[in-house]
Amino acid sequence: MARTDYLSLPDMKKARSRVKKSEILQASREVPALVAEYGKGRKYFIKTFGCQGNVRDEEVLGGFLELAGMTKAVKEEEADVVLINTCAVRENAEEKVYGEIGKFKAKHYADPEHFILGVCGCMMQQEGVAEKIMHSYPYVNLIFGTHNIPEILNLIDAHLKRKKDLVSIVSGEGNVFENLPSTRLDNIKAFVNISYGCDKFCTYCIVPYTRGRERSREPKSILNELADLRAKGFKEVTLLGQNVNSYLYKDAEGNEVDFAALLGMVADAAEGMVVRFTTSHPKDMSDRIIDMIASRPNICHHIHLPVQSGSNSVLKAMNRKYTREWYLERVAAIRERIPDCAITTDMFTGFHGESEEDFRETLSLMREVGFDAAFMFKYSERPGTYASKFLPDNVAEDVKIERLNRMIALQNTLSLESNRRDIGKRFTVLVEGYSKRSKEDMC
Ligand code: 5AD
Ligand code: SF4
Repeated sequence: MARTDYLSLPDMKKARSRVKKSEILQASREVPALVAEYGKGRKYFIKTFGCQGNVRDEEVLGGFLELAGMTKAVKEEEADVVLINTCAVRENAEEKVYGEIGKFKAKHYADPEHFILGVCGCMMQQEGVAEKIMHSYPYVNLIFGTHNIPEILNLIDAHLKRKKDLVSIVSGEGNVFENLPSTRLDNIKAFVNISYGCDKFCTYCIVPYTRGRERSREPKSILNELADLRAKGFKEVTLLGQNVNSYLYKDAEGNEVDFAALLGMVADAAEGMVVRFTTSHPKDMSDRIIDMIASRPNICHHIHLPVQSGSNSVLKAMNRKYTREWYLERVAAIRERIPDCAITTDMFTGFHGESEEDFRETLSLMREVGFDAAFMFKYSERPGTYASKFLPDNVAEDVKIERLNRMIALQNTLSLESNRRDIGKRFTVLVEGYSKRSKEDMC
């Protein structure tokens, strides 16, 4: 079987040195004739792993497939095109992907002429993964990365032309695409990307390598997308970016729009809607942003502010660029200006060199802040990161797990306390529909 169009993955050095100026490009909505022919009456299914950024990518992929006349399959078994949209942030997400690919082996061999299986997203940008899939799963027809999403119809076209050839393209470009088609997965809440990629290079994190360098969308395009959502009756918008706080758009005349300014523009244009944003980096959580949240009634009083660890030496090894004291000061600034602001976080146990003492610093920080909720993990080394090369994964697995369990137990207590503090208060709530568990309850 000929394997074509395979571009090698950028190594870490190249990825870091690629400070190329990103461009704003218009995605083509042209459907190649062969794809339009193939698409008639066909169904697609996209299985997404990972964060809200990946969910948004699923919506864009769905948008492209629908341009080609396909409709969404209710069940994966009835789909002619299956895309597995992957996550690389932690190891367990990766293992699930291999299991998922295996599920479609029989389906491929039953109809290799028509059935198309694609694997895409963050994991494909990682060194060695595309090669592994090519060798171990020969029934995968398309492999493509996060930067290739706007090319999906051309990839399918190339696959159809070459029949059984595997078209596998992974490139490291980092442009901003506008004019993207999209099929929204919800009709009340919507995600809007404001920036892509990340420049922070936390030593444990794969994101700067899989999603590329940070680049911001033009405010005008963001506001157009918002106006469209509002006209369609959406009630909530979440502005998305790996680090929304460092959003910065410069126009040709040198005028700048930063995140605080963008947030104000969005809130003003989103009358009657609730505005949220995620994720915030503590280092870039400025007073201007906090003041902007306080000044607009429709910006939700919730900040997701990942702390990762409460120990200064661990934060330093992580290259988080702030200290415990800095983080606590930012929390105090939020509480002073927005007293009822919910603060949630991400944390993980067992990073390089974390001692019992370091871990207790995290527990004490959790108590001090009183997080309303948290996403908690144990460290998993990601190939290609700085830590994988220079900071040995030297905390034993059972210690990581034991610490994670203590962390979760403490957070459960803190979350309960947070809920109890709300008893007797009145809130404006957004009703999303019935509860999944029972029609007696609303969500
Ligand atoms: N191991 C464990 N957790 C990680 N995260 C990111 N990279 C890793 C890793 N290598 C966590 C961080 C981040 C969240 C999205 O995932 O807490 O904020
Ligand atoms: Fe990863 Fe750090 Fe960027 Fe978050 S800020 S995406 S943890 S590199």
